[in-house]
Amino acid sequence: MSKFIIQGGKKLEGEVKISGSKNSALPIIAATILNSGKTTLYNVPNIQDVKTMFEIIEDIGGKVTKKNNKIIIDTSNVHTYEIPDNLMRKMRSSVILAGALLGRYKRARFSYPGGCEIGSRPIDLHLKGFEKLGINIKEEFGEIVCNADKIKGTQIHLDFPSVGATENIILASCLAEGKTILTNSAKEPEIEDLIKYLNKMGAKIKGEGTDKIEIEGVTRLAEVSYNIMPDRIEAGTYLIAGAVTGGKIKITNVKPEHIEPLLNKLEEANCELSIGKNYVEIIAPKRIKAVDIKTMPYPGFPTDMQSIFGAMLTTAKGTSIITENIFENRYKYIQELNRMGAKVKIEGRTAIIKGTKRIQGANVIATDLRGGAALIIEALVAKGITQIDNIEYILRGYENIVEKLKQIGAKIYIEK
Ligand code: UD1
Repeated sequence: MSKFIIQGGKKLEGEVKISGSKNSALPIIAATILNSGKTTLYNVPNIQDVKTMFEIIEDIGGKVTKKNNKIIIDTSNVHTYEIPDNLMRKMRSSVILAGALLGRYKRARFSYPGGCEIGSRPIDLHLKGFEKLGINIKEEFGEIVCNADKIKGTQIHLDFPSVGATENIILASCLAEGKTILTNSAKEPEIEDLIKYLNKMGAKIKGEGTDKIEIEGVTRLAEVSYNIMPDRIEAGTYLIAGAVTGGKIKITNVKPEHIEPLLNKLEEANCELSIGKNYVEIIAPKRIKAVDIKTMPYPGFPTDMQSIFGAMLTTAKGTSIITENIFENRYKYIQELNRMGAKVKIEGRTAIIKGTKRIQGANVIATDLRGGAALIIEALVAKGITQIDNIEYILRGYENIVEKLKQIGAKIYIEK
């Protein structure tokens, strides 16, 4: 098993180019099934989750070709609406394939998705949405079997603005008959990106970035090329790496408007920011100030940044309070931080963080993707050496993380 070995205490300085967004690339790759033809994608991050999605596409008959900086996906020979169980279990986002297969075949068969263990993560909202579209759903031997003669546009209201359910309903209804109106839909930038891609193919979807999305069914979708948006969580991670080490980092290839909730909190923590059209530069104070955060659906503070920001706050001057409102089990990383000298107490959905200057290197274990990233942040500021195990979680979501961190002065390597 590989591990990260990190020597802390280095002030990070320099420039990092942000990669394409994982959470935008995954649903868009799934959506390529809908045009039964070719799609050319740019800015696709080279990470494990994307490789798993390619594996699934190829397993069901698609072809994925890499040429320099572009990926060509040909789904004309996709021949099944069944997603293999072993691949389905590898990651949660595989559930997005259900909407795409339903859009194309009006059928899909899959098992419950896997993924990071950060909460119960049910898919009831996805399935309720499918049923509203006239799709019949049965459970057979632990698998979900979806079937429809016709998918018909309708009104769907989500009880909670789930990102995955919003994406799945859009995918299942863009080739449907008539109009689907989805209210209380999620507004995350990754959904906007998916809609832009679908509209470029000829779908008729309005309302991206709002909580009311209207999808007018069309009969076919065309072959197009598309450039995936930058990863806002990766962007935030490098800004925080700068903030926690008292450094000066410029991130490029970003959309600052996507990370506004984070930028506000970094300013509140006394970081100085300079914001351009495609870049953000952070100049950190010697020691950041404690701030409180509450995770919320977009445009609130993102749950995916909670652990990473939380790690930074363990070193702040003063006491900070985090409230996690999206996933109930997203504090597993805290026990690892506490092993390194952090002073954090959990009470239900709340974490109370008493800032300290005494963070020490230790042997710790990544508990999930973003929890793992939090350990890197802690290790960068710790005295001495930290060894992080289970780095497979981290590599699922961060492209070239070792090279990028080295480039800004971090002492990090992978021990096999
Ligand atoms: C997506 C992101 C993930 C991010 C999350 C919230 C991808 C690949 N992943 O995950 O990184 O942390 O959005 O921003 O884009 N829920 C239900 N029933 C459902 C679906 C969701 O109760 O059918 C609940 C979940 O348990 C959770 C909350 O809704 O408590 C949010 O989940 P959701 O927005 O669906 O997240 P994902 O799409 O899984």
